[in-house]
Parts: sequence; structure tokens; C-alpha cells
Amino acid sequence: MEQLQIAPLRDLLSHFRFMITLRSQEGKYHSLILFRLSTLQDPGSKDSISDDLCLPGTDEHGLSISSSSNQRQIYVMESSCPHLGADMSHADIEECETGMVAVCPWHRYDFDLKTGKSETGLKACTYDVEVRIDPADGVEKVFMQTPKEGRNWRLVELRPVSEEFADPPPPPKAIKHTQMAVSIETDEVEPVVPAVNPPKTLMQWAVLILNTPNPTLKVERTRHAVDLFRTGKLGSIGHKSPNVPRPPDVPLREESFARNTVDPKKVKSRKNLAVMLHALANIEQWAIDLAWDIMARFGPDHPDLPPAFFSDFSKMALDESKHFSLLTARLAAISPSTPYGSMPVHASLWESATVTSHSLRSRLAIIHLVHEARGLDINPATIERFRRAGDMETVRVMEIIHADEVTHVTSGHRWFTWVCAQEGTADPVSAFREEVRRGWRGDVKGPFNVEDREKAGLTPHFYEDLKGEMGFIAKLEQESKNENQVANLNADVAPLNIQYDKA
Ligand code: FES
Repeated sequence: MEQLQIAPLRDLLSHFRFMITLRSQEGKYHSLILFRLSTLQDPGSKDSISDDLCLPGTDEHGLSISSSSNQRQIYVMESSCPHLGADMSHADIEECETGMVAVCPWHRYDFDLKTGKSETGLKACTYDVEVRIDPADGVEKVFMQTPKEGRNWRLVELRPVSEEFADPPPPPKAIKHTQMAVSIETDEVEPVVPAVNPPKTLMQWAVLILNTPNPTLKVERTRHAVDLFRTGKLGSIGHKSPNVPRPPDVPLREESFARNTVDPKKVKSRKNLAVMLHALANIEQWAIDLAWDIMARFGPDHPDLPPAFFSDFSKMALDESKHFSLLTARLAAISPSTPYGSMPVHASLWESATVTSHSLRSRLAIIHLVHEARGLDINPATIERFRRAGDMETVRVMEIIHADEVTHVTSGHRWFTWVCAQEGTADPVSAFREEVRRGWRGDVKGPFNVEDREKAGLTPHFYEDLKGEMGFIAKLEQESKNENQVANLNADVAPLNIQYDKA
């Protein structure tokens, strides 16, 4: 059985739970949770518990086994509960007669962390963990057994189960809520949980958040909803309900944040870091909505989507909320006179959401594997600009964002290949290129961050020499006299209808 290195032991001392994503050579994914229960200290410190443990043995690779997972109290199990698929990242850990158990937040079934066994008869999938001393450098490293199916498993995500949020700055006063032509003025501060008809399912929360125009409240509601979902306090996901609410065509925006479209020519010449932070925060605000929209729009059409899909995208919504709050906090710190909302913003990201609103496969391809993957290409240069300006705190924030974005592209790849498999499409690469041809305009531009794209599952076969023909198809539509023929070519590319007032 393959063994996979997770990390040096010292890297796991910062937190007690980590999310792990593995991908096999064949493109299969496993999402896992690593629980570290002991209060280990830095193995390099003189108080390290290493000295108290049994003498190391040697494994078949000649690596010293410094202790068993039980001694270290490090356990790895699948992140989806075997009952109905709840996310186990927020499971309670309890001690019982036979050992330590993880208690699922949804229905409180408990699973032995070592064996996965439960009194209910269900069994969670667990993996053996070992801590070994690498003779090459003398460093203690954590290894895990890999899943049985698949080959050449690699670690594509290891991150603590905790979210770093900066407190969002206070919302602007005298909010004007608009939904295109509809305008409602209010100065009231809405509660995070509405007093009337509070949402009871994840889908209801998704639609409420999409209809929440205040970005600070959007962030707060996202945090609250994801926490409810993870800790089993929601009635259900709700995507199979006949009364599932529908998402808006375009999420609500406060008028002050939606008055203009940035002129791309001007953006290029702007050097101001505050302008960059403002623009990045605007993208993150749309990204929060995109994460909720993919769940609310496509969940009801795909009742076969497993809970892991909603776990991945609710995590994404939470990440984007974290990014928004971190960026707006940095903006407030470096430029108090230009808080979020004081500069014009654009809605171009939602244009692609509109173009792909007919198909989950198209949405995943265009938003998550083109737009978000482009972010991986651009982020390093953005980080460098802040570094050159000496703003190391923003560098730190951008590095957090970049690491998260790799996992978002990973989720895009995971669920794109899942949809392809459900449809019986054998070749996800060809399916992706076809989606881009139909739903993207112009070249998919480099230079590419090949390394991080590859981490996320996007090999160059996906994106090299790729060109979208959306405009070309639209032109055909105009020129063709045969409407039926055009409809067959491009039934899904609807004209955009996003009209923001010019400032
Ligand atoms: S006990 Fe985990 S989903 Fe029901």
C-alpha cells in the first residue's frame, strides 16, 4: 500500500484539525480530515515529547518510525460522514471506553477515530498514520496510507480548519439598496438572522445571501450560514425540496457599490495600491455570490449532487468572505479616506455567471477553471507589487488568498470531472475545451502559472492554445437567416442584460 507524506510534524503543531485533499493519477479525489489530539510541542524544542516515546523502529523504506499515530494521537478519516455525507471537519471529539470517537454534527453518530467503527453499524473510512524520522534530514514527518483505489496519490491541499477573518469595516451609512430599477432606501441595520422567516436550509441561506446588498452583512451571513451547516444546526441542504427558492438573476448591490464600470484602460495605468485593493475586494464580493449561486442555481437541477459538493462550495463562500474582509481591512488601514464603496466597481465577473447560468458544467468551466485559474496566473505579480511597495501585511493577506484560490480551482476541477463522469463524458479535457469555445470570448491568455494550475488539476492540455468563440457564435446568430440552425449552435449563450448606471 502506498504511503504519502503529509507534512513535517512541526507543521501540524499550529492547529488541531486540518483539511486534506488528495488526487490520484486518474483524477479521483478524496477529502479527508486530520485530527491531532495531543498537545505536541515543537519536536525541535527541548520539551519535545519525542524523547518520551518508544525507541524508533525502521520501516521498509529505511525510515525510522518514531511513534504510532495512537501515541501521537494523529488520525485521518474521510471528511464525509458515511451516514448522509455531513462534513466531519467540525465533529466533536469525545472519549469513550474503546478509544476516541468523532461525533458527526448532523445526527450525532459517533465513529472510532482509529477504526472508523460505529455502534450504528456504519463504518467511516480511516487511514493509518505514522510519524517517521527522515534519515536525510532528521526531521519527523507524518505519513498516511493512501486510498485503495487509484495510483500515485498526491496531496493537493493541507490547510487548518480555521478561518482567519479581519473584522470588516463598518458599513457605509445611509445605504441605498437597489436591484436594477427597483430602489429601496433604508437606514435600518438588518440582523444577521432575519426576524421574519429565518432560513432553515442551506438553499434558503444561499438565496438570502444573494439578495443581501450590504457586503458586510453578506460576509456576516455567510459566516453564520456556513457555521450552521458545518455544525449540524440546519434542517437540511434543501436542494431536493419542491419549495426550494430560486436565486436572483443578478445579486443585489448597494447603489453606491454599483454605479460604474471601471474603464479597463484606466485600470492599467493606475498605480495606486488602494485602487488595487478596492478592485480586488470588489472581485471577492462577486466571488462570494458566485459560490452561493452555483449551489442555489444548480443544486435543485442536480438532486444527485452529494453533500460534499455543498461542503466544498460553502467553504469557498466562506473563503471569499474571509478574503473580502481581509482586503477591506487592509484598504481601511492603508487608505482610511477611501473605504470600500468609495470607488467605482465593475460587474464583469457576473457577465460570465449570466452566460453560464444554463449549465453546471459550463459554470464550473468558465468561472472556476478559466476566471479563477487566471487569478492563479496573476496573483504572484500582484503580490510582488505589494512587496515592492513594502506593504508586507498585504503581501501576507494576498498569500493567504492565493493559497485558497488554488483550492478553489481544485474544487472546480473536481466537480467538473464529476459532472463529466455523471454524463458519461470520458474526456474532461475535450469537454472543458468545448465549454470554453462556447462560453468564452477570445484567447485564454497566459503567461500561465503552470505549477499552481497543475496543483489544482489543470494540466496544460486543458488550457494551451485555447480560444473562446462566443463572439463568433453570436455573430453567426446575427448573420444567419436560419434561426433554428443558430439555436442549435448556441442555444445557451443568451445576450447579457446587466445594466448599471454610469456614475
Ligand atoms: S450522522 Fe453524519 S450525516 Fe447523519
